[in-house]
Amino acid sequence: MEPIDLLVTHIGQLATPPAAATALRGAAMARIELRNDAALAVHKGRVLAVGSHSDLEDAYRPTQVLDAGGACVTPGLVDPHTHAVWAGERRGEFERRIAGATYMEILAAGGGILATVAATRRADRDHIVAETLPRLQTMLAHGTTTAEVKTGYGLTLEDERKLLDAIAVLDAQHPMDLVPTFLGAHAVPPEFRDRPDAYVDLIVEEMLPELAYLVYTVTGEDGSAYRQRAVHFCDVFCERGVFDLEQTRRILTAAKSHGLDLKLHVDEFEPMGGVSLAIELGATSVDHLVRTGEEELARLAASNTVGVVLPGTPFGLGHNHFAPARRLIDLGGAVALATDLNPGTTWCESMPLMMALATRYMRLTPAEALTAATLNAAHAIGLGRFVGALAPGYQADFVVWDTDDYRDLTYRYGVNLVKKVYKRGREVVTGN
Ligand code: NIG
Ligand code: FE
Repeated sequence: MEPIDLLVTHIGQLATPPAAATALRGAAMARIELRNDAALAVHKGRVLAVGSHSDLEDAYRPTQVLDAGGACVTPGLVDPHTHAVWAGERRGEFERRIAGATYMEILAAGGGILATVAATRRADRDHIVAETLPRLQTMLAHGTTTAEVKTGYGLTLEDERKLLDAIAVLDAQHPMDLVPTFLGAHAVPPEFRDRPDAYVDLIVEEMLPELAYLVYTVTGEDGSAYRQRAVHFCDVFCERGVFDLEQTRRILTAAKSHGLDLKLHVDEFEPMGGVSLAIELGATSVDHLVRTGEEELARLAASNTVGVVLPGTPFGLGHNHFAPARRLIDLGGAVALATDLNPGTTWCESMPLMMALATRYMRLTPAEALTAATLNAAHAIGLGRFVGALAPGYQADFVVWDTDDYRDLTYRYGVNLVKKVYKRGREVVTGN
Protein backbone atom coordinates (compact mmCIF):
# COMPACT_ATOMS: atom_id res chain seq x y z
CA MET A 1 0.00 0.00 0.00
CA GLU A 2 1.32 3.39 -1.04
CA PRO A 3 1.67 6.02 1.73
CA ILE A 4 -0.11 9.30 0.97
CA ASP A 5 -0.96 12.51 2.87
CA LEU A 6 -4.76 12.43 2.66
CA LEU A 7 -7.59 10.17 1.56
CA VAL A 8 -11.07 11.64 1.27
CA THR A 9 -13.52 8.79 1.75
CA HIS A 10 -17.30 8.30 1.50
CA ILE A 11 -17.85 10.99 -1.12
CA GLY A 12 -21.55 10.62 -1.99
CA GLN A 13 -21.07 12.38 -5.30
CA LEU A 14 -17.80 13.63 -6.77
CA ALA A 15 -18.70 16.17 -9.47
CA THR A 16 -15.98 17.67 -11.67
CA PRO A 17 -15.28 18.73 -15.23
CA PRO A 18 -12.67 16.47 -16.84
CA ALA A 19 -9.05 17.69 -16.93
CA ALA A 20 -8.55 19.63 -20.15
CA ALA A 21 -5.73 21.66 -21.66
CA THR A 22 -8.18 24.26 -22.97
CA ALA A 23 -11.54 25.57 -21.77
CA LEU A 24 -14.48 23.29 -22.51
CA ARG A 25 -16.69 24.68 -25.26
CA GLY A 26 -20.20 24.13 -26.59
CA ALA A 27 -21.81 20.82 -25.67
CA ALA A 28 -18.65 19.69 -23.82
CA MET A 29 -19.41 22.18 -21.04
CA ALA A 30 -22.24 19.96 -19.82
CA ARG A 31 -20.16 16.76 -19.79
CA ILE A 32 -19.06 16.79 -16.20
CA GLU A 33 -17.93 13.60 -14.52
CA LEU A 34 -20.17 12.28 -11.74
CA ARG A 35 -18.98 9.49 -9.45
CA ASN A 36 -20.95 8.01 -6.57
CA ASP A 37 -19.32 6.35 -3.56
CA ALA A 38 -16.05 7.94 -4.56
CA ALA A 39 -12.74 8.70 -2.89
CA LEU A 40 -9.96 11.16 -3.57
CA ALA A 41 -6.28 10.47 -2.93
CA VAL A 42 -4.12 13.52 -2.22
CA HIS A 43 -0.35 13.74 -1.88
CA LYS A 44 1.93 16.79 -1.62
CA GLY A 45 -0.95 19.15 -2.32
CA ARG A 46 -2.03 17.47 -5.53
CA VAL A 47 -4.64 14.97 -6.59
CA LEU A 48 -3.05 11.55 -6.97
CA ALA A 49 -6.12 9.53 -7.86
CA VAL A 50 -9.88 9.72 -8.10
CA GLY A 51 -11.77 6.45 -7.91
CA SER A 52 -14.24 4.25 -6.18
CA HIS A 53 -14.19 4.23 -2.42
CA SER A 54 -13.22 0.55 -2.21
CA ASP A 55 -10.43 0.70 -4.82
CA LEU A 56 -8.69 3.65 -3.23
CA GLU A 57 -9.04 2.35 0.33
CA ASP A 58 -7.21 -0.81 -0.78
CA ALA A 59 -4.47 1.05 -2.66
CA TYR A 60 -3.35 3.76 -0.22
CA ARG A 61 -2.19 4.13 3.35
CA PRO A 62 -3.05 7.75 4.24
CA THR A 63 -1.57 9.79 7.06
CA GLN A 64 -4.92 11.53 7.36
CA VAL A 65 -8.47 10.50 6.44
CA LEU A 66 -11.38 12.84 5.78
CA ASP A 67 -14.73 11.08 5.89
CA ALA A 68 -17.01 13.13 3.62
CA GLY A 69 -20.05 11.37 5.10
CA GLY A 70 -21.86 10.99 1.77
CA ALA A 71 -21.49 14.65 0.79
CA CYS A 72 -20.96 16.09 -2.66
CA VAL A 73 -17.38 17.18 -3.42
CA THR A 74 -16.40 19.51 -6.26
CA PRO A 75 -13.22 21.33 -7.27
CA GLY A 76 -12.63 24.58 -5.43
CA LEU A 77 -14.45 27.38 -7.26
CA VAL A 78 -12.42 29.83 -9.32
CA ASP A 79 -13.43 33.50 -9.59
CA PRO A 80 -11.76 34.90 -12.74
CA HIS A 81 -12.90 38.54 -12.50
CA THR A 82 -12.83 40.60 -9.30
CA HIS A 83 -12.00 44.16 -8.26
CA ALA A 84 -11.46 42.92 -4.70
CA VAL A 85 -8.86 45.48 -3.51
CA TRP A 86 -10.34 48.86 -2.64
CA ALA A 87 -10.98 51.16 0.31
CA GLY A 88 -14.34 52.51 1.44
CA GLU A 89 -17.91 51.89 0.30
CA ARG A 90 -20.61 53.44 -1.92
CA ARG A 91 -23.84 52.91 -0.01
CA GLY A 92 -25.05 56.41 -0.83
CA GLU A 93 -24.58 55.74 -4.54
CA PHE A 94 -26.61 52.55 -4.19
CA GLU A 95 -29.47 54.58 -2.73
CA ARG A 96 -29.20 57.12 -5.57
CA ARG A 97 -29.36 54.32 -8.13
CA ILE A 98 -32.46 52.90 -6.47
CA ALA A 99 -33.97 56.38 -6.79
CA GLY A 100 -33.28 56.35 -10.56
CA ALA A 101 -29.73 57.66 -11.25
CA THR A 102 -27.81 55.45 -13.68
CA TYR A 103 -24.37 53.97 -13.04
CA MET A 104 -22.80 55.80 -16.00
CA GLU A 105 -24.38 59.15 -15.01
CA ILE A 106 -22.85 58.85 -11.55
CA LEU A 107 -19.42 58.06 -13.07
CA ALA A 108 -19.68 60.97 -15.55
CA ALA A 109 -20.40 63.30 -12.61
CA GLY A 110 -17.14 62.25 -10.93
CA GLY A 111 -18.64 59.64 -8.59
CA GLY A 112 -18.81 55.86 -9.03
CA ILE A 113 -15.39 54.35 -9.69
CA LEU A 114 -13.85 57.79 -9.07
CA ALA A 115 -15.30 57.94 -5.55
CA THR A 116 -13.54 54.65 -4.77
CA VAL A 117 -10.36 55.97 -6.43
CA ALA A 118 -10.38 58.95 -4.04
CA ALA A 119 -10.84 56.70 -0.98
CA THR A 120 -8.22 54.21 -2.19
CA ARG A 121 -5.65 56.92 -2.91
CA ARG A 122 -6.07 58.20 0.66
CA ALA A 123 -5.52 54.74 2.19
CA ASP A 124 -2.08 53.21 2.63
CA ARG A 125 -1.22 49.66 1.60
CA ASP A 126 -1.77 48.09 5.01
CA HIS A 127 -5.16 49.75 5.39
CA ILE A 128 -6.22 48.38 1.99
CA VAL A 129 -4.95 44.92 2.95
CA ALA A 130 -6.94 45.08 6.20
CA GLU A 131 -10.15 46.09 4.41
CA THR A 132 -9.72 43.43 1.73
CA LEU A 133 -8.86 40.42 3.93
CA PRO A 134 -12.43 39.88 5.22
CA ARG A 135 -13.69 39.91 1.63
CA LEU A 136 -11.20 37.23 0.65
CA GLN A 137 -12.23 35.25 3.71
CA THR A 138 -15.88 35.47 2.65
CA MET A 139 -14.96 34.28 -0.86
CA LEU A 140 -13.09 31.30 0.61
CA ALA A 141 -15.96 30.53 2.98
CA HIS A 142 -18.26 30.33 -0.08
CA GLY A 143 -15.95 27.89 -1.86
CA THR A 144 -13.61 30.07 -3.93
CA THR A 145 -10.02 28.81 -3.77
CA THR A 146 -8.44 30.83 -6.62
CA ALA A 147 -9.29 34.35 -7.82
CA GLU A 148 -8.17 37.02 -10.22
CA VAL A 149 -7.84 40.50 -8.65
CA LYS A 150 -7.64 43.76 -10.60
CA THR A 151 -6.05 47.05 -9.66
CA GLY A 152 -7.84 50.12 -11.06
CA TYR A 153 -8.68 52.27 -8.03
CA GLY A 154 -5.27 53.98 -7.93
CA LEU A 155 -4.83 55.45 -11.42
CA THR A 156 -1.38 56.92 -10.73
CA LEU A 157 1.84 54.94 -11.03
CA GLU A 158 2.33 55.02 -7.24
CA ASP A 159 -1.24 54.16 -6.35
CA GLU A 160 -1.47 51.34 -8.88
CA ARG A 161 1.80 49.95 -7.50
CA LYS A 162 0.35 50.23 -3.99
CA LEU A 163 -2.56 48.04 -5.11
CA LEU A 164 -0.21 45.50 -6.69
CA ASP A 165 1.77 45.47 -3.41
CA ALA A 166 -1.48 44.91 -1.52
CA ILE A 167 -2.43 41.99 -3.81
CA ALA A 168 1.02 40.43 -3.28
CA VAL A 169 0.72 40.77 0.51
CA LEU A 170 -2.79 39.30 0.45
CA ASP A 171 -1.67 36.44 -1.78
CA ALA A 172 1.06 35.60 0.71
CA GLN A 173 -1.18 35.97 3.79
CA HIS A 174 -4.35 34.29 2.60
CA PRO A 175 -4.91 30.66 1.55
CA MET A 176 -6.55 31.66 -1.74
CA ASP A 177 -4.27 32.00 -4.77
CA LEU A 178 -4.56 35.44 -6.37
CA VAL A 179 -3.83 36.26 -10.01
CA PRO A 180 -3.04 39.99 -10.43
CA THR A 181 -4.36 42.13 -13.29
CA PHE A 182 -3.30 45.71 -14.05
CA LEU A 183 -6.41 47.81 -14.74
CA GLY A 184 -4.88 51.28 -14.88
CA ALA A 185 -7.44 51.94 -17.63
CA HIS A 186 -10.44 51.56 -15.31
CA ALA A 187 -11.48 55.23 -15.54
CA VAL A 188 -9.96 58.54 -16.59
CA PRO A 189 -8.81 60.09 -13.29
CA PRO A 190 -10.05 63.61 -12.40
CA GLU A 191 -6.67 65.28 -13.07
CA PHE A 192 -6.89 64.06 -16.70
CA ARG A 193 -10.60 64.72 -17.10
CA ASP A 194 -10.25 67.00 -20.14
CA ARG A 195 -7.34 65.17 -21.74
CA PRO A 196 -8.01 61.44 -21.64
CA ASP A 197 -5.41 60.73 -24.34
CA ALA A 198 -2.72 62.16 -22.06
CA TYR A 199 -3.78 59.59 -19.45
CA VAL A 200 -3.51 56.83 -22.07
CA ASP A 201 0.01 58.15 -22.81
CA LEU A 202 0.83 57.87 -19.11
CA ILE A 203 -0.38 54.26 -19.01
CA VAL A 204 1.53 53.31 -22.16
CA GLU A 205 4.71 55.29 -21.56
CA GLU A 206 5.14 55.11 -17.79
CA MET A 207 2.86 52.69 -15.98
CA LEU A 208 3.15 49.62 -18.21
CA PRO A 209 6.94 49.82 -18.80
CA GLU A 210 7.42 49.92 -15.03
CA LEU A 211 4.68 47.72 -13.59
CA ALA A 212 4.95 44.93 -16.18
CA TYR A 213 8.48 44.23 -14.87
CA LEU A 214 7.78 44.60 -11.17
CA VAL A 215 8.78 41.37 -9.37
CA TYR A 216 8.31 40.14 -5.84
CA THR A 217 10.21 37.55 -3.91
CA VAL A 218 7.80 34.90 -2.77
CA THR A 219 8.37 32.10 -0.29
CA GLY A 220 7.15 28.75 -1.61
CA GLU A 221 5.45 25.94 0.28
CA ASP A 222 8.81 24.25 0.89
CA GLY A 223 10.37 27.46 2.25
CA SER A 224 12.41 28.24 -0.84
CA ALA A 225 12.32 31.79 -2.23
CA TYR A 226 11.49 32.54 -5.84
CA ARG A 227 10.75 35.62 -7.95
CA GLN A 228 7.29 36.23 -9.34
CA ARG A 229 5.98 38.96 -11.66
CA ALA A 230 3.57 41.34 -9.94
CA VAL A 231 1.21 41.48 -12.92
CA HIS A 232 -0.10 38.67 -15.09
CA PHE A 233 -2.87 40.36 -17.11
CA CYS A 234 -3.71 43.81 -18.45
CA ASP A 235 -7.38 44.83 -18.70
CA VAL A 236 -9.23 47.94 -19.98
CA PHE A 237 -12.78 49.20 -19.27
CA CYS A 238 -13.78 49.70 -22.92
CA GLU A 239 -17.06 51.62 -22.79
CA ARG A 240 -18.55 54.86 -24.13
CA GLY A 241 -17.35 57.74 -21.93
CA VAL A 242 -14.49 55.66 -20.47
CA PHE A 243 -11.93 54.26 -22.97
CA ASP A 244 -12.82 53.99 -26.67
CA LEU A 245 -11.69 51.28 -29.06
CA GLU A 246 -8.58 53.13 -30.30
CA GLN A 247 -7.38 53.92 -26.78
CA THR A 248 -8.07 50.33 -25.78
CA ARG A 249 -6.03 49.07 -28.73
CA ARG A 250 -3.07 51.28 -27.78
CA ILE A 251 -3.07 50.07 -24.18
CA LEU A 252 -3.51 46.38 -24.92
CA THR A 253 -0.93 46.41 -27.73
CA ALA A 254 1.61 48.00 -25.39
CA ALA A 255 0.76 45.53 -22.62
CA LYS A 256 1.24 42.62 -24.99
CA SER A 257 4.64 43.96 -26.07
CA HIS A 258 5.68 43.83 -22.39
CA GLY A 259 4.66 40.18 -22.17
CA LEU A 260 1.34 40.59 -20.37
CA ASP A 261 -1.69 38.47 -21.22
CA LEU A 262 -4.88 40.33 -22.04
CA LYS A 263 -8.42 40.68 -20.73
CA LEU A 264 -11.09 43.23 -21.60
CA HIS A 265 -14.27 44.72 -20.10
CA VAL A 266 -16.59 44.81 -23.13
CA ASP A 267 -20.21 45.68 -23.87
CA GLU A 268 -21.23 46.10 -20.22
CA PHE A 269 -23.59 48.96 -21.13
CA GLU A 270 -23.19 49.55 -24.90
CA PRO A 271 -21.73 47.46 -27.72
CA MET A 272 -18.33 48.90 -28.68
CA GLY A 273 -16.66 46.33 -30.95
CA GLY A 274 -14.29 45.31 -28.18
CA VAL A 275 -14.90 41.58 -28.67
CA SER A 276 -13.38 41.67 -32.16
CA LEU A 277 -10.40 43.66 -30.91
CA ALA A 278 -9.82 41.23 -28.05
CA ILE A 279 -9.92 38.25 -30.41
CA GLU A 280 -7.57 39.99 -32.86
CA LEU A 281 -5.04 40.58 -30.07
CA GLY A 282 -5.38 37.02 -28.74
CA ALA A 283 -6.91 37.99 -25.38
CA THR A 284 -7.30 35.20 -22.83
CA SER A 285 -10.81 36.40 -21.96
CA VAL A 286 -13.46 39.01 -22.79
CA ASP A 287 -15.68 39.89 -19.89
CA HIS A 288 -19.27 41.16 -19.35
CA LEU A 289 -20.72 40.73 -22.91
CA VAL A 290 -24.13 42.01 -21.77
CA ARG A 291 -24.78 43.89 -25.03
CA THR A 292 -22.70 41.82 -27.45
CA GLY A 293 -24.49 41.21 -30.77
CA GLU A 294 -24.89 37.98 -32.71
CA GLU A 295 -22.07 38.62 -35.19
CA GLU A 296 -19.38 39.20 -32.56
CA LEU A 297 -20.77 36.37 -30.45
CA ALA A 298 -20.26 33.98 -33.37
CA ARG A 299 -16.74 35.31 -33.84
CA LEU A 300 -16.05 34.78 -30.13
CA ALA A 301 -17.45 31.24 -30.26
CA ALA A 302 -15.00 30.41 -33.06
CA SER A 303 -11.99 31.83 -31.17
CA ASN A 304 -9.85 30.59 -28.28
CA THR A 305 -10.87 33.54 -26.10
CA VAL A 306 -13.04 32.62 -23.10
CA GLY A 307 -16.25 34.62 -22.58
CA VAL A 308 -16.51 35.56 -18.89
CA VAL A 309 -20.05 36.45 -17.85
CA LEU A 310 -20.93 38.25 -14.63
CA PRO A 311 -24.61 37.87 -13.79
CA GLY A 312 -24.12 39.59 -10.43
CA THR A 313 -23.51 42.87 -12.25
CA PRO A 314 -26.90 43.36 -13.98
CA PHE A 315 -28.49 41.87 -10.87
CA GLY A 316 -26.60 44.28 -8.62
CA LEU A 317 -27.66 47.18 -10.84
CA GLY A 318 -31.28 46.05 -10.80
CA HIS A 319 -31.25 45.44 -14.56
CA ASN A 320 -33.12 42.61 -16.21
CA HIS A 321 -30.93 42.01 -19.25
CA PHE A 322 -28.14 39.43 -18.93
CA ALA A 323 -25.25 38.37 -21.19
CA PRO A 324 -26.27 35.90 -23.94
CA ALA A 325 -24.24 33.06 -22.44
CA ARG A 326 -26.69 30.35 -23.55
CA ARG A 327 -26.30 31.53 -27.15
CA LEU A 328 -22.51 31.62 -26.85
CA ILE A 329 -22.46 28.00 -25.65
CA ASP A 330 -24.90 26.93 -28.38
CA LEU A 331 -22.61 28.56 -30.96
CA GLY A 332 -19.77 26.39 -29.60
CA GLY A 333 -18.10 28.97 -27.36
CA ALA A 334 -16.42 28.61 -23.95
CA VAL A 335 -18.10 30.41 -21.04
CA ALA A 336 -16.78 31.13 -17.54
CA LEU A 337 -18.56 32.73 -14.59
CA ALA A 338 -17.23 35.36 -12.17
CA THR A 339 -18.52 37.67 -9.43
CA ASP A 340 -17.05 41.04 -10.60
CA LEU A 341 -16.81 41.76 -6.84
CA ASN A 342 -16.55 45.57 -6.53
CA PRO A 343 -18.05 48.35 -4.36
CA GLY A 344 -20.14 49.86 -7.17
CA THR A 345 -22.08 47.50 -9.39
CA THR A 346 -21.99 44.33 -7.26
CA TRP A 347 -20.50 43.76 -3.80
CA CYS A 348 -20.92 40.01 -3.69
CA GLU A 349 -18.26 37.39 -2.91
CA SER A 350 -20.34 34.31 -3.66
CA MET A 351 -19.68 32.18 -6.75
CA PRO A 352 -22.59 29.82 -5.91
CA LEU A 353 -24.94 32.82 -6.18
CA MET A 354 -23.46 33.56 -9.63
CA MET A 355 -24.16 29.94 -10.60
CA ALA A 356 -27.74 30.28 -9.36
CA LEU A 357 -28.25 33.48 -11.38
CA ALA A 358 -26.61 31.98 -14.48
CA THR A 359 -29.00 29.03 -14.53
CA ARG A 360 -32.08 31.22 -14.22
CA TYR A 361 -31.23 34.30 -16.27
CA MET A 362 -28.77 32.84 -18.76
CA ARG A 363 -30.29 29.36 -18.98
CA LEU A 364 -27.08 27.48 -18.25
CA THR A 365 -27.69 23.98 -16.93
CA PRO A 366 -26.36 23.20 -13.43
CA ALA A 367 -23.60 21.11 -15.07
CA GLU A 368 -22.59 23.96 -17.39
CA ALA A 369 -22.61 26.37 -14.46
CA LEU A 370 -20.23 24.06 -12.55
CA THR A 371 -17.82 23.93 -15.52
CA ALA A 372 -18.10 27.72 -15.91
CA ALA A 373 -17.24 28.25 -12.23
CA THR A 374 -14.32 25.80 -12.11
CA LEU A 375 -12.32 24.57 -15.12
CA ASN A 376 -13.39 27.29 -17.59
CA ALA A 377 -12.89 29.98 -14.96
CA ALA A 378 -9.37 28.61 -14.41
CA HIS A 379 -8.66 28.75 -18.15
CA ALA A 380 -9.93 32.35 -18.18
CA ILE A 381 -6.95 33.23 -15.93
CA GLY A 382 -4.40 30.91 -17.53
CA LEU A 383 -4.49 28.24 -14.80
CA GLY A 384 -6.70 25.56 -16.35
CA ARG A 385 -3.97 22.93 -16.33
CA PHE A 386 -3.49 23.30 -12.57
CA VAL A 387 -6.84 24.10 -10.94
CA GLY A 388 -10.55 23.77 -11.73
CA ALA A 389 -10.81 19.99 -11.94
CA LEU A 390 -10.30 17.01 -9.63
CA ALA A 391 -8.03 14.83 -11.72
CA PRO A 392 -4.54 13.39 -11.24
CA GLY A 393 -1.93 16.17 -11.22
CA TYR A 394 -4.37 18.97 -10.46
CA GLN A 395 -4.01 20.97 -7.27
CA ALA A 396 -5.99 19.40 -4.41
CA ASP A 397 -8.36 22.36 -4.05
CA PHE A 398 -11.83 21.10 -3.25
CA VAL A 399 -15.09 21.85 -1.47
CA VAL A 400 -17.19 19.48 0.63
CA TRP A 401 -20.81 20.64 0.31
CA ASP A 402 -23.69 20.33 2.71
CA THR A 403 -25.67 18.32 0.12
CA ASP A 404 -25.25 15.08 -1.81
CA ASP A 405 -26.08 16.55 -5.24
CA TYR A 406 -24.12 19.25 -7.13
CA ARG A 407 -27.34 20.60 -8.64
CA ASP A 408 -28.17 22.06 -5.23
CA LEU A 409 -25.38 24.61 -5.79
CA THR A 410 -27.71 26.25 -8.31
CA TYR A 411 -31.15 24.99 -7.22
CA ARG A 412 -30.74 26.33 -3.71
CA TYR A 413 -29.45 29.88 -3.20
CA GLY A 414 -28.97 32.69 -0.72
CA VAL A 415 -27.54 30.35 1.90
CA ASN A 416 -24.03 28.98 2.20
CA LEU A 417 -23.89 25.24 1.46
CA VAL A 418 -20.13 25.00 2.03
CA LYS A 419 -19.14 22.51 4.72
CA LYS A 420 -15.37 22.41 4.30
CA VAL A 421 -12.81 23.91 1.94
CA TYR A 422 -9.40 22.40 1.19
CA LYS A 423 -6.56 24.24 -0.53
CA ARG A 424 -3.56 22.21 -1.75
CA GLY A 425 -4.75 19.32 0.39
CA ARG A 426 -5.05 21.41 3.55
CA GLU A 427 -8.25 22.27 5.38
CA VAL A 428 -8.78 26.05 5.22
CA VAL A 429 -12.49 26.33 6.07
CA THR A 430 -14.14 24.10 8.64
CA GLY A 431 -17.80 23.56 9.25
CA ASN A 432 -19.85 26.58 8.19
O1 NIG B 1 -16.86 45.61 -13.91
N1 NIG B 1 -17.11 48.40 -15.16
C1 NIG B 1 -16.08 48.65 -14.57
N2 NIG B 1 -15.69 48.11 -13.43
C2 NIG B 1 -16.55 47.44 -12.53
C3 NIG B 1 -17.25 48.38 -11.63
C4 NIG B 1 -16.30 49.03 -10.72
C5 NIG B 1 -16.91 50.04 -9.77
O2 NIG B 1 -18.03 50.52 -9.99
O3 NIG B 1 -16.22 50.36 -8.79
C6 NIG B 1 -17.45 46.47 -13.26
O4 NIG B 1 -18.68 46.51 -13.19
FE1 FE C 1 -15.32 44.30 -13.75
